[in-house]
Amino acid sequence: LKYMYVMAFAVEEINRNSTLLPGVKLGYRIFDSCSRYPWALQHALGCEYFKTCIIAVKNVNNISVSFPQISYFASCPCLSDRSKFPNFFRTIPSDIYQAWAMAQLAIRFHWTWIGAVIVNNDYGQLAIQVYVFVVTLYQCFYKYHLHIYNDLLQDLVTSKVASGVLGVAIQSSKISGFENYLRNLHPRDTPSYSYFSSSLKHPFTDTSQLRVSYNVYLAVYAAAHALHIFAHNFFFLEKSSLLNFYCFQLLQHLNKVNVTTPQGEMFYFQGADIPAKYDLVNWQNTPEGTLKLVLIGRVDGFDLILNESAIQWSTGSNQVPVSVCSESCPPGTRVATRKGEPVCCFDCIPCAEGEISNTTGSPHCERCPSEFWSDAERTACILRQVDFLSFNETLGITLATAAVSGATVTTAVFVVFLYYRQTPVVRANNSELSFLLLVSLKLCFLCSLVFIGRPSVWACRFQQAAFGISFVLCVSCLLVKTIVVLAVLIKYKLLLILKCNIIYVIICAVWLSLSPPVPQQDLGFQGSKVTLKCAMASVVGFSLVLGYIGLLACTCLLLAFLARKLPDNFNEAKLITFSMLIFCAVWVAFVPAYVSSPGKYVVAVEIFAILASSYGLLLCIFAPKCFIILLRPEKNTKKHLMERGKNCQNHHQSAV
Ligand SMILES: *[C@@H]1O[C@H](CO)[C@@H](O)[C@H](O)[C@H]1NC(C)=O
Ligand SMILES: *[C@@H]1O[C@H](CO)[C@@H](O)[C@H](O)[C@H]1NC(C)=O
Ligand SMILES: *[C@@H]1O[C@H](CO)[C@@H](O)[C@H](O)[C@H]1NC(C)=O
Repeated sequence: LKYMYVMAFAVEEINRNSTLLPGVKLGYRIFDSCSRYPWALQHALGCEYFKTCIIAVKNVNNISVSFPQISYFASCPCLSDRSKFPNFFRTIPSDIYQAWAMAQLAIRFHWTWIGAVIVNNDYGQLAIQVYVFVVTLYQCFYKYHLHIYNDLLQDLVTSKVASGVLGVAIQSSKISGFENYLRNLHPRDTPSYSYFSSSLKHPFTDTSQLRVSYNVYLAVYAAAHALHIFAHNFFFLEKSSLLNFYCFQLLQHLNKVNVTTPQGEMFYFQGADIPAKYDLVNWQNTPEGTLKLVLIGRVDGFDLILNESAIQWSTGSNQVPVSVCSESCPPGTRVATRKGEPVCCFDCIPCAEGEISNTTGSPHCERCPSEFWSDAERTACILRQVDFLSFNETLGITLATAAVSGATVTTAVFVVFLYYRQTPVVRANNSELSFLLLVSLKLCFLCSLVFIGRPSVWACRFQQAAFGISFVLCVSCLLVKTIVVLAVLIKYKLLLILKCNIIYVIICAVWLSLSPPVPQQDLGFQGSKVTLKCAMASVVGFSLVLGYIGLLACTCLLLAFLARKLPDNFNEAKLITFSMLIFCAVWVAFVPAYVSSPGKYVVAVEIFAILASSYGLLLCIFAPKCFIILLRPEKNTKKHLMERGKNCQNHHQSAV
């Protein structure tokens, strides 16, 4: 009823206007559609004697008529299609913008879990499609349930739910003079309708927020302005010619309408539509327990202007309610979508070691650069700690203690031998070779110490040189001892040892001068630490050194094995065989362990091999002698040794 009165009001206002259509009076005729939209249309088409050009239709799907229609309420996006509806205009924005505005609200408040209540028809379905499209653009999904609700807010129960709801409403406006017009209606003037007392407060007479009514008002004015342009173009014609215009002529002029409304806004058509303008409203509780619509912002085209502080949330607090399927992932984790669920439902998986994420909701963890590693929180890359076998850690201390103990024991044996140098046991087996062997063993123990500590350019070279020379000296002493057991006499024992060592020194010098081992950070081994180690620039060089020691050791083992049955003063060949077996076993086991050990354990393995083989030699060769010297002095006599010697046949005593 209000829409009808606003149309009548607008027509009367135009008729009074002396500039818009002077000398022309507009009339109107209202048809009842009986809630069946085509009916009103058919009536209008039937009245051919009227120039009926303005028809406010609610929904004109599939109806195309040849005269212009201006709708105040048909908001279906489908009606924007000019090829299907060339004569259609409307003063209400297409619903496209409404769904877009709602989606913008959800995006603005970071809501990713949304239930939509829609009318189950073209309007609702289209709105939800636009909504899904807009929201999906921002990479979020949601679930919706379709329900049919009519007039949702009038229901008492749902009105409770509705408090705090945000909505997009048709833009509201004021029409000056309209309230007075409504209040002054009197049965005297419109006998067929009941009248409204000017003292009654009723929604009908409330003109504070005119929404659809204002669209009707605009529609009437749009038609009047089109007519004005038409009349203006033909001002030289008779006034009566206005009665003979054709509706299609009006159509052309509707496209040209461009006026300023009394509210100061530009009004023109873009195709069928007017630029989108909406109010953003919030249903708020009043102290009386009723709900009122409060303006909280507006939508102008693609701009959304919102006054957040004006919103009353359903939660009662002024915090924006959270509506998400999963809380966003904190830094240090990454988003992992759940199979078969919307993208906004996800799990947060902590970043793996060596990977970080430093933003909230990160889709993936980033691997730290190779010199860096992740911190405990996995939110930042920190420099990897330089790691090497040092004297400050248990492994380093243990190995150093074992080395120092070995050197001490060797020194002790040396002292014992020196003290008892006149006794037969010491004199029996080339005492000068024994002393040299003890010195070289001590060097072997001590050289393991240079492997511990931060690798430097010189430490890397010195390690291998010291290790090599100690072992070559040691093994060549044993080799010469064995040869002495086998042969009658060698004149230049020390010369042979020297030759062995000179060969080694040449190999070693060539290796260390051409491509020496250099300190290098081992980044390949992943972890919070980066290993600093001496890298073998030349595997051939290192292999040659090991191979040379191996060759000496094998020769020694072979000769000692041949000589093991030969009786000598103090069957030393057996001891040498045994010690060389241990020696070779240790170094054969060393190679695979060395190759497969991670990080600084490579060094530990080498030190272990050095210590194990040195202890093996020390114990096998010197323990039995020390045992006799210190604990069985009665056996350390010339007579005793002579008795052993009598059993020797075809054997030449070595030098005593
Ligand atoms: C409407 O007219 C104004 C000037 O009065 C002009 O600035 C504006 O561009 C026009 N709009 C359209 C859509 O033609
Ligand atoms: C926003 O709303 C608050 C509360 O209604 C009001 O005090 C304030 O003036 C509004 N701000 C703007 C810019 O409209
Ligand atoms: C996050 O990490 C990136 C590199 O992965 C860096 O460029 C950025 O500055 C970091 N941001 C913060 C806030 O730490």
